[in-house]
Amino acid sequence: MDGQTKVAVIYYSATGITYQMARAASEAAEKAGAEVRLRKVRELAPDEAIRSNAGWQAHRLETQDVMEAEPDDLSWADVVIMGSPTRYGMVAAQLKQFIDTTGPLWARGALANKVYSGFTSTATAHGGQEATLLSLYTVFYHWGGIVVTPGYTDPSQFASGNPYGASHTSNNGEVPPDQLALGATALTAQRAVEIGTALKRGLTAG
Ligand SMILES: Cc1cc2nc3c(=O)[nH]c(=O)nc-3n(C[C@H](O)[C@H](O)[C@H](O)COP(=O)(O)O)c2cc1C
Repeated sequence: MDGQTKVAVIYYSATGITYQMARAASEAAEKAGAEVRLRKVRELAPDEAIRSNAGWQAHRLETQDVMEAEPDDLSWADVVIMGSPTRYGMVAAQLKQFIDTTGPLWARGALANKVYSGFTSTATAHGGQEATLLSLYTVFYHWGGIVVTPGYTDPSQFASGNPYGASHTSNNGEVPPDQLALGATALTAQRAVEIGTALKRGLTAG
């Protein structure tokens, strides 16, 4: 087989909650034996909007050295894990804008036959976590991807409670992801690597 399983963790985060989940996904994927690229998508909001929110401004500085995602990160990867805060029950425009640059890759089938998964955070418990994850997965179905979720494959999932993907309720950035949310994110990444590695082996053998 051609080396390690390659994982791209691609996320958007304004105030840092989803970033913490992205780091948990990266660390878990590395622990599962993968080569990982952690990438943020480009910020699109105007500077004055960012400066008007101390948490947003601080997080932007905190992650200034994180590399920005490029379409090549998707073609490179065997496994793609995307994360976004929930915005009115959908992914953030910044992540969607990145997704909308993938037409040429999609057209030549370069996004198909990979494993995909996702994670999200919301302000409130019923603020649309599943809706966001399902809207993200709709993109993956268009790409011909294989969506891997945490399901209820570990007893901890009965406590974290979201079989669709890892999620966290942040009370508008006030509550950082706890061990339960970070554990669900790690489980999501670990399963994506496990299935991604098996798929890669099978495709290589076939
Ligand atoms: C424009 C906007 C729309 C949002 N929409 C929702 C929503 O539909 N449901 C919800 O619970 N939280 C919503 N939120 C809150 C964020 O999803 C939440 O604070 C998230 O944890 C922030 O993640 P981040 O720190 O990674 O940016 C919204 C926030 C903004 C700024």
